[in-house]
Order: sequence, then C-alpha cells, then structure tokens
Amino acid sequence: MILNVTKVLFWFFISFNAYADHIDERLESYFENFLIKPPQTILNKRPKLYEFGKSLFNDKDLSLNKNISCSTCHIPELGTVDALALSIGEGGEGTHLLRRQMRAGITSRNAPHLFNKADPSFKALFWDGRVSLNSRTGVYETPEPGLNGENPEYYEIVDKVENLLAMQSLFPIVNHIEMRGSNFNHLDNHSVWKKVSNLIRAKKKYQDYISDDFNIADIANALSYYQKIEFQVNDTPMDRFIKGNRSSLSLTEKKGALVFFEKGRCSRCHLGPLLTNRSFQSVSAPQIGPGLNSKNNDEGRYLVTKNENHKYEFLTQPLRNIAITAPFYHNGAYASLREVIDHYDNPSKAIHNYDVTQLERLYSLNYNEMIFVDRNHYNNFYRVQSLNNILKTPLRLSEQDKSSLICFLKKSLTQEKYHHLIDMNECDR
Ligand code: HEC
Ligand code: HEC
Repeated sequence: MILNVTKVLFWFFISFNAYADHIDERLESYFENFLIKPPQTILNKRPKLYEFGKSLFNDKDLSLNKNISCSTCHIPELGTVDALALSIGEGGEGTHLLRRQMRAGITSRNAPHLFNKADPSFKALFWDGRVSLNSRTGVYETPEPGLNGENPEYYEIVDKVENLLAMQSLFPIVNHIEMRGSNFNHLDNHSVWKKVSNLIRAKKKYQDYISDDFNIADIANALSYYQKIEFQVNDTPMDRFIKGNRSSLSLTEKKGALVFFEKGRCSRCHLGPLLTNRSFQSVSAPQIGPGLNSKNNDEGRYLVTKNENHKYEFLTQPLRNIAITAPFYHNGAYASLREVIDHYDNPSKAIHNYDVTQLERLYSLNYNEMIFVDRNHYNNFYRVQSLNNILKTPLRLSEQDKSSLICFLKKSLTQEKYHHLIDMNECDR
C-alpha cells in the first residue's frame, strides 16, 4: 500500500516535470518564432545631453504660460503617464490623480506611455502616426509643412533634428491644449518654438548646454535622448526567461504567456522585440471624450492618410511595463487590464455594453464635465466594422485563461522595480 502511494507520487512528480519542460519548450519556440527578445541596452554615452534633457522634460518654461511640463502628463516614476483617461492641458492644476481641470482643455486622447518609444524601428509616432519618417527619402512628414520640405522650409530645425522622437517632441510644445496656452493662439508654430528656445537660452542654469546656433531642435534632441536612455526596458522577468532562465516565470505566468500566443491571438500584433508590429490596427475601442472632429469622433489613422481602410486604426502599443500605464487604449476608455481582455474577448459586444461609470467614479473630481461617450449607432457600426480580421471571431477565453493572461501582462512584462505599484491578484491563485 505504502509502496503504491510512493509510486503514484513518483509518477505525478515525473509527469509534472515533463509538463513543465514541455510548456517551457513551447514558450521558447513561440518567443523565437514571434521574434520577441530583449532590445539591446543603450548606454548613456552623452551624459551632458541626458542631464539637459532630463531638466527640460521637467521644465514648465517649455510652455509659454509656464504652468505645465512634459512630466505633468508623462510622470517618469509613475509609468510615464498621468493616470487620467484624457490629459488635462495647460492651465490645469495639480498632478496625477489630483490634477484638476480649472480653465484648461482636455486632450482628445490618452497620454501614451514612453517605454521603448525611442527605438529606431518606429517609423511613426502619436496614436495616429501623424509624425513620421520616410526612411527611404529621409524626409519627415508632420502637421507642420515647414518641417516637411515645403516652403518656407525651417532648415535650421530640420537639419539638426536627430531622430523621429526628437521631431515628435516639437509638437506638444505648440499644441493648443497641451502646452502652448490660449493667449498665444495668434502665433504660428515657428514663432512659438522661437519664443520657447529664447526662454530656455536665457536661463542661467542651462548656460553650459547652449551653443551659438541654439534653437528648438537642440531642445528636441535633448528631450529625445533623455527619453531614449531613461525609458528603455529590456529586463523584465519575460526577458530573463528568453535569455534562458526558466524559473523567472511562475507556472501561472507561463500559462498566461501561452494564452498570449495561442487562444488570445495577442502575438499576431504584439510581436517583435518590442511586442508591437509598430503599425496601425483597429481593435474597435469605444469612443470617449471630445474626439478629434466636430462630432466627438476619432477616426485615428484615417485622419492622417484619408484612406477609408484606415478608419479607427491606432498605433499598436509596445507592452513592456504596460500594467503600470492605466488607463488603456487611445482614449483611456478602460481603467484595468481585465476590461481590456474582456474587450478583446468579444469587441463588438464590449462596445455595445460599454459602461463609463467606472471612469466617472475614478475621475469625478478631475474634469469639469462628465466624460462624453459616443453612442451614435452609425459611428459604432463602423467602429465595429473596422475591427481587424484577426479579432473578428470571439476569443472565447475561460476565466482561467483571462486571469493567467493578466498575470503574464502584469508580472512577466513589468520590471521588478515597479511590481509594488501593481495589484497582483491574478498571480496569487
Ligand atoms: C497635456 C498633457 C501632455 C503634455 C504636457 C505632453 N504630452 Fe506627450 N502626449 C500627450 C498625449 C495626449 C499624447 C497622444 C496624442 C496623440 O497621439 O494624438 C502624447 C504623445 C506623446 C508621444 C508619442 C508616443 C507614441 O506612442 O507615439 C511622446 C513621445 C510624447 N508625448 C512626449 C512628450 C514630450 C517630450 C513632452 C514635452 C515636450 C510631452 N509629451 C508633453 C500628452 C501630453
Ligand atoms: C489586430 C491587432 C491586435 C491584436 C490581435 C491585439 N492587439 Fe492589443 N493593441 C492593438 C492596438 C492597435 C492597440 C491600440 C488600440 C487603441 O488604442 O485603439 C492595442 C492596445 C493594447 C493595450 C493597451 C495599450 C495602451 O497603452 O493603452 C493592451 C494592454 C493590449 N493591446 C494587449 C493585448 C492583448 C493582451 C492581446 C491579446 C488578447 C492583444 N492586445 C491583441 C493591436 C492588437
């Protein structure tokens, strides 16, 4: 009898180990096939530029009314976001969840996280990719013709801007809601950039960084360099697993990773070193907030390309550290990863049943008005129609699939130094 129990236990032990090996091997081949691997570490070889960029990122003098900095909306130690669904721009007061709208406007979109966004594989930035680099011709396309090679061309800026992320950083500075300030609406972008760079040039603390031909491009390059160094992520538990340490993920995380590759279909778009295809897809996210046209609608990539097939497409986001960047999607429609997964499970159902009360409860003190939700049947019909083919049939995830997938997103994809910011509920079971 005793012998039999030992035998059973022994076989259980052997088969459990065989299962564990099996799941590891499966995962290893998935990571390999979907080209997921840690991006290379970028060393800080230009410490002076880094320091300048860091100071500028936190400097309210980049806004002409001197009341908002990049870090108001992209808080470095809190996931490079502001925790709001839609950001409160120039004229607001306070930070993070304590930020109040006052006389400020709110942005049409959620402040995206900045992790790994400096990677040169990105050819377009912003949710709709409106700042892009044509790598064949080396020409930028932006909302400002003077930067795109059109007359009058701003050579002194374009010739100096070092990369796409630097080009991107010129735009929050002139954005009417984000940083410019309504009393400077009459100026063109070029004059705002000039005023801002003069302000920075005059500051005593920056004297070491100022050259004779200093202009806004130097500011842009420093901001971009700081972000490149500071917000690189390549050392999550998943990265250690890929490098061969099988024990860096728990069994629940591994099961979640399998859902990511198999039933969840996530890796069909979230793949490659950064867990993104760096292009634009529609996941039929609900529309909340002011939107980008007069009808409170946001047609995403279509606004840039005017191609009907691009309606409601947005930039597929990289996923390292994603759990600390709530709320999610281009307008922050979902407060938690659980809601995002429920959405993916059946997007058309999710859009029709979308319930904004969760956000209203969270943000009742931040905004002056209730958050607008687009219930227009026509818009929502087209939003659902636009859904990418990969997601058109429901995923049919079980409760266990969902919670292990969420555990993978929360724990395996997040650097340990941020684990204390996350409620790891799904990983405890
Ligand atoms: C008022 C809040 C606010 C401020 C201030 C702000 N941003 Fe943003 N940022 C946003 C929002 C909202 C978006 C998305 C806009 C869009 O895609 O249409 C964004 C987009 C970005 C992106 C694009 C990321 C991606 O995924 O494509 C980068 C990079 C960025 N901001 C950096 C900066 C820098 C650098 C500054 C300071 C010069 C700055 N931001 C100031 C709210 C803000
Ligand atoms: C068809 C391509 C596609 C598939 C499949 C896909 N995603 Fe996405 N993902 C996107 C796009 C595009 C966005 C941005 C959508 C938006 O904001 O409207 C996104 C956004 C996200 C976000 C929010 C990012 C942020 O910064 O707000 C998370 C989290 C996410 N995806 C996880 C997943 C998971 C988990 C799966 C599998 C269940 C998955 N995705 C499947 C394309 C895809």
